[in-house]
Amino acid sequence: MAEEAKNNGGSDAVVAAHGHGGDGASAGTAVIVPDAVQNPGLPPHRKRVTDLDPKKAKNAERVVYSLFYLSIAGSLGAVLAYMFLPIETGELGAIRLHTMFVGLGMALSLLAIGIGAVHWGKALMDDHESIDYRHPVPSEAEVREASAEVFELADKESGFSRRSLVRNSLIGALIAFPIPGITLLRSLAPQDRDPVQQLHHTMWTKGVRLARDPSGVPIKASEVTIGSAFHVIPETLNHEDFSKLSLDERGGSDHLLDAKAKAIVLLMRLDQSELKELPERKGWSYDGIVAYSKVCTHVGCPVALYEQHTHHLLCPCHQSQFDVSEHAKVVFGPAKRPLPQLPITVDDEGYLVAQSDFHEPVGPSFWERLK
Ligand code: FES
Repeated sequence: MAEEAKNNGGSDAVVAAHGHGGDGASAGTAVIVPDAVQNPGLPPHRKRVTDLDPKKAKNAERVVYSLFYLSIAGSLGAVLAYMFLPIETGELGAIRLHTMFVGLGMALSLLAIGIGAVHWGKALMDDHESIDYRHPVPSEAEVREASAEVFELADKESGFSRRSLVRNSLIGALIAFPIPGITLLRSLAPQDRDPVQQLHHTMWTKGVRLARDPSGVPIKASEVTIGSAFHVIPETLNHEDFSKLSLDERGGSDHLLDAKAKAIVLLMRLDQSELKELPERKGWSYDGIVAYSKVCTHVGCPVALYEQHTHHLLCPCHQSQFDVSEHAKVVFGPAKRPLPQLPITVDDEGYLVAQSDFHEPVGPSFWERLK
């Protein structure tokens, strides 16, 4: 049975009710509510000022081509900055100037193109509205059937499904094909040295003073107050002397920045009562002063943020957090290992010095790493 009725709100609705009739359908009621959302259509078209006033259109045109000329000036500026502000000296000031002006030139160039193009589109290009109706996406049934037939025929003629030995050996050959490319990656590591060994050593050795980064001024234990944090490099890491050091003294690195990237350290002083040291690491700190590698054990970003109250170090890349009061163990984030600790003490003049190199490789994990 079916009947039409008005619903409580007064709008038209169709109510269909099925009793326990002879057709075997179960009882129920379906209400078909009329479509509540009416197509509002397009709002009335409003002309732009540039459509109504030729003077304004001319002005907009001037703005657009000025922006494109500005972009050309930015590109040329970046090229000139690259040529006349070289960074061959390796000085930090020169690097800053070079990157700043090359970057500014490129930014100006891109920004001006972007703004110019948008302004052109909004103010000058033709402004008519049109309706594009959607079309059915799938292909016709005959086209799909014909495609399936082509695949079946190709399979039958090539014997791809039938000749399993040929097929499987082809799959094996395709899997093996990229392997030589992977082995070529070995050429990226030094040929005459063991790359794994290089990852195990840094510039820190017994007696090397801890110095401020980047000035290289050595740090006295008395200068490190409770709650303070220092960014630290080995005193032996400076431009003048680096090339005179032996490969071993350079921690196996050919370039100063590589050596620095491995050896950078964060130095903090805590109240001695807050420090929970591992028994085997007793004596690695000095009067509450502890030194940890600044290279995150997740994927190697610099762990640069120290929160004094919680004693947490935060890596800004993926938010790993390390607790300095508990041997830099991971308290949050994707890092899996604590930051390696640098054992330190003081020399006769009160300067902080390393007791040795790190006892484990710094930075992210790699296959041959044992711990
Ligand atoms: S590199 Fe530090 S959390 Fe990912």
